[in-house]
Amino acid sequence: MKKQIALTVNGVKRELLVNPQDLLLNVLREQLGLTGAKYGCGIGECGSCTVLLDGEPILSCMTLAVAVNGSEVTTIEGLLGSDGSLHPIQESFLEHGAVQCGFCTPGMILMAKNLLDKNPHPSEEEIREHIRGNLCRCTGYTQIVQAIKEVSLTRKA
Ligand code: FES
Ligand code: FES
Repeated sequence: MKKQIALTVNGVKRELLVNPQDLLLNVLREQLGLTGAKYGCGIGECGSCTVLLDGEPILSCMTLAVAVNGSEVTTIEGLLGSDGSLHPIQESFLEHGAVQCGFCTPGMILMAKNLLDKNPHPSEEEIREHIRGNLCRCTGYTQIVQAIKEVSLTRKA
């Protein structure tokens, strides 16, 4: 039997009817049309489904929607400015060629946002450690780390 849940998604309150077994990833993608979070492995190993839950990264392929009732969810779509402008982290990824096929990119950028929100000037080692669970099948890690580092160098603390 479906259950009603309430989520704040990218700043907008949403009331949703979900099955008890519905994954947050599928609810975001299929009910809300937010296709930024990707279905990669489906078993918690690649990070392509990463979203922020109350500011902290979670794997939405491993998260039941009913379990996060009442929470605040941020997807990559939520990083855009009100005028549609890209977030500085998105800009930096583009400038550094850190986007190849793009499949890992939403998860990587949300991990970067989470890191920079907590630690505005991380070391390269801290960046690598933070994105350790996010796999890039195009192996563009050097550019990804450079892109995150650049934001940390140019943003005000
Ligand atoms: S799709 Fe969720 S960790 Fe791979
Ligand atoms: S850019 Fe292709 S998976 Fe990372």
